[in-house]
Amino acid sequence: MSETPEGRRDVKNHLLFEISTEVANRVGGIYSVIKSKSPITTAEYGERYCLIGPLNRTSAAVEVEALEPTNPALKATLDAMSDRGIQWLYGRWLIDGAPRVLLFDTGTGYKHLDEWKGDLWSTAGIPCPPGDAETNEAVVFGYLVAWFLGEFVSHEQSRAVIAHFHEWLAGVALPLCRKRRIDVTTIFTTHATLLGRYLCAGSVDFYNNLQYFDVDAEAGKRGIYHRYCIERAATHSCDVFTTVSHITAYESEHLLKRKPDGVLPNGLNVVKFSAMHEFQNLHAQSKEKIHDFIRGHFYGHNDFDLENTLYFFTAGRYEYRNKGVDMFIESLARLNHRLKISGSKTTVVSFIIMPAQTHSLTVEALKGQAVIKALRDTVDNIEKGIGKRLFERALRWHDGEQVPAEKDLMSNQEKVMLKRRVYALKRNSLPPIVTHNMIDDQADPILNQIRRVQLFNHPSDRVKIIFHPEFLNSSNPVLSLDYDDFVRGTHLGVFASYYEPWGYTPAECTVMGVPSITTNLSGFGCYMEELIENASDYGIYIVDRRMKGVDDSVNQLCQFMYDFTVKSRRQRINQRNRTERLSDLLDWKRMGMEYVKARQLALRRAYPGSFDSKEPFPFFDGTEQKVSRPLSAPGSPRDRSGMMTPGDFPSLQEGMEGLNTDDYVSWRLPEEEDPEEYHFPLTLR
Ligand code: UDP
Ligand code: G6P
Ligand code: GLC
Repeated sequence: MSETPEGRRDVKNHLLFEISTEVANRVGGIYSVIKSKSPITTAEYGERYCLIGPLNRTSAAVEVEALEPTNPALKATLDAMSDRGIQWLYGRWLIDGAPRVLLFDTGTGYKHLDEWKGDLWSTAGIPCPPGDAETNEAVVFGYLVAWFLGEFVSHEQSRAVIAHFHEWLAGVALPLCRKRRIDVTTIFTTHATLLGRYLCAGSVDFYNNLQYFDVDAEAGKRGIYHRYCIERAATHSCDVFTTVSHITAYESEHLLKRKPDGVLPNGLNVVKFSAMHEFQNLHAQSKEKIHDFIRGHFYGHNDFDLENTLYFFTAGRYEYRNKGVDMFIESLARLNHRLKISGSKTTVVSFIIMPAQTHSLTVEALKGQAVIKALRDTVDNIEKGIGKRLFERALRWHDGEQVPAEKDLMSNQEKVMLKRRVYALKRNSLPPIVTHNMIDDQADPILNQIRRVQLFNHPSDRVKIIFHPEFLNSSNPVLSLDYDDFVRGTHLGVFASYYEPWGYTPAECTVMGVPSITTNLSGFGCYMEELIENASDYGIYIVDRRMKGVDDSVNQLCQFMYDFTVKSRRQRINQRNRTERLSDLLDWKRMGMEYVKARQLALRRAYPGSFDSKEPFPFFDGTEQKVSRPLSAPGSPRDRSGMMTPGDFPSLQEGMEGLNTDDYVSWRLPEEEDPEEYHFPLTLR
């Protein structure tokens, strides 16, 4: 890529665009990446940072505050696009860091679809068969982004521009930038590979055959050849190619035929509470809300002790095999059996939170919450009535009289009312498995497996199941909790993934101090296994799905869950404390450094003349960019001295001499704390 004829673009004050289809639009983990990273990226770039995505009017209406563009180059570019009938929304994304976002209404670009598809074929050899709405969307969005970038750099000629693209859906613009020689430097981060997802979802021995797949043929067989072409073109036309974990880097090398320049692992925006035990209090509060839901869901069958109930869950996009739901349900059936034969008094309620196609909530699910609410309201009224009467009678009490007895205090009307409420709790059926009316109940893989293993919420079952086929939301009338609050209230997250480039769900559990089970086929699992020797002590259980057969992995998962059920409350509290102390490992303040390095590499590759190879990084003068050392005490179970940074790939290290990586090299796990020092009430079993 050339430098401007007028001279060098200013690389130091470069601008950054980050492009993804999940900007202000939750679909899965990519949304979590860009949203949680926003505070550190805006801290580094301020107004030099802008995210670009397609406009989803429903989510933008609640997530974005519209603004008038003031930057002259931006304004000129967007005005020019408006003149050609393209609509967009520019504004502030209402999240921590409040980054600027530019959302294109792709609907206004469809008039060019055929022309653009033809162009994509003639310039990049990428075919686009009719009838694939997702690809059409990717093409229109990609052409709009390339149009924007091309026009923008013709107005903004003094500063360098980095365009960082996430995932193939946002990748069409990459070959266009290259072909049109647009003067930007580009990064492509893939969060999975298309072939990986598709092959794993089938019954393929994926990891043992990675080197041998005939990629074009496999893509063709699955009807995704054109999508694969987009992904592969994006991979090969970017300046810097990255992915989110080493396992996906290896996969990309074989399936996309380019070895990534580095790994950009996903971080989280870790919120520290001023009181260390605050997250424990939050657990107790959220658990109480889950209890409320359970009372309603199991009405008429509230025959287990909530004080002796554990909440397990799995959550994510509905990918039955890839997300390991098949393994989870099978292990739950085995756990149920073990708990029964061991005479355990513990009940495990397991939630599966995975969006599927539904008509609505079931009447039964709504009724459950309603009858319990009615009972609670009635009891509250009776309680007030009794209190009032007791007070009045006590007031009129005379010497020698009996003290008012409680049996006389309840009025007949109240007794009738209570009877009615109690009768309303009668139920002839077992508590339901699923909270919604499914569109395809008979063919649903999760429901079918639950049927197969016969986990029907029978009173004798020690393991109960609730399938909630919708992401959580506090405005939901049945399970009224936001996802984060729900996670806090649970005891264990179980993510038995077979295909998982990173896996935010267990990482989110960790920073909230909730132990979780993951696998050594997930990027997160491998990352933690690499960093911590005795990960299970820290509430990170890693199921071996790589070297073990399926049956052995199921048994290992069952064993982890069983061992968890025999922990005392105190042991759980101690473990939660240890889990939460791993948060620093996942903080963007640490992980974000890989992004910084990828951007540096992109600038160096595009504008080598602006860098003196002998000189350290111009931006690392030791003051403004230094990533702070995690707030942890020394003492580590694993020697990390060989490790450079979380990404630890050679090319991101190019010219990094001036960059201080001490913070990574010397990171140590927190020392074991003395449980007696916790200053919060321990309710012991
Ligand atoms: N998630 C959510 N609401 C829910 C369940 C899950 O917002 O009810 C989010 C969760 O916080 C996580 C994301 O969905 O950030 C899933 O990301 P992950 O990386 O685990 O998987 P992906 O879907 O990207 O494959
Ligand atoms: C937190 C609270 C304690 C509570 C405990 C319950 O630690 O601070 O007051 O007793 O949670 O833990 P459990 O694992 O039984 O839900
Ligand atoms: C993808 C992967 C997931 C990862 C997320 C964010 O959707 O499936 O494992 O955590 O992207 O990188």
